[in-house]
Amino acid sequence: MTNIILLGPPGAGKGTQAKRLVDERGMVQLSTGDMLREAQTSGTEMGKRVAEVMNRGDLVTDEIVIGLIREKLDNPSGGGFIFDGFPRTLKQADALGALLAQTGQSLDAVIEMQVDDAALVARITGRFTCGNCGEVYHDVTRPTKVAGTCDVCGSTKLKRRADDNEESLKTRLMEYYKKTSPLIGYYYAKGQLSTVDGLAEMDEVAGAIAKVLDKS
Ligand code: AP5
Repeated sequence: MTNIILLGPPGAGKGTQAKRLVDERGMVQLSTGDMLREAQTSGTEMGKRVAEVMNRGDLVTDEIVIGLIREKLDNPSGGGFIFDGFPRTLKQADALGALLAQTGQSLDAVIEMQVDDAALVARITGRFTCGNCGEVYHDVTRPTKVAGTCDVCGSTKLKRRADDNEESLKTRLMEYYKKTSPLIGYYYAKGQLSTVDGLAEMDEVAGAIAKVLDKS
């Protein structure tokens, strides 16, 4: 069992690579972004507040996301967890370490996906996903084989995220550099950091991640 963090700015390819690891290695993807989007659909006051924060591109409070992850760690997965978009602050990183220790689990690798900021606008503004199975596509780099239909499940419910626009992306990037990028040094100092080139072709990125996992 291998537990890993995929770390990188919005559009680095964390979700794309996490889905491959689920398919190829039976790992379990824990995406706090997906969990929070699900909470928005509940129609509760909390869901509405979360939607406003996410649409602006700001971070949701540490208490909410740590609570979401805490619930999941009680049921360890055979293939291991992929933490996708969590932790995003030093407080979340400390909380993850404590939660793993409490549940007798370990963190085996932290994989930083390095990308050039200039590439992120094109990645984010071209992204769409399947509303049924969550498969991630891109207008240019990964279109569906049949226009308007998901390659994986055949659904025609393809959608774009409300925060995937240039204005929100600026805030998301600022949040990343102010609050999340310090985690690179944090995990380097713990001897857990590996870095892959997130600008490479999707298959090459997957190969680089596989090498890190096979060594862990
Ligand atoms: P979240 O949903 O986590 O979004 P994000 O971190 O901004 O990351 P993205 O999902 O945008 O990008 P990705 O790296 O997964 O890229 P993808 O694989 O899709 O968070 C959203 C919001 O939720 C936050 O802003 C915050 O408000 C809140 N939130 C979430 N977690 C939180 C936390 N822990 N604490 C507080 N708040 C939290 O790829 C992008 C595109 O590029 C796709 O179209 C893909 O097809 C394409 N692509 C991918 N790889 C390649 C490649 N190698 N070559 C070419 N194209 C590629």
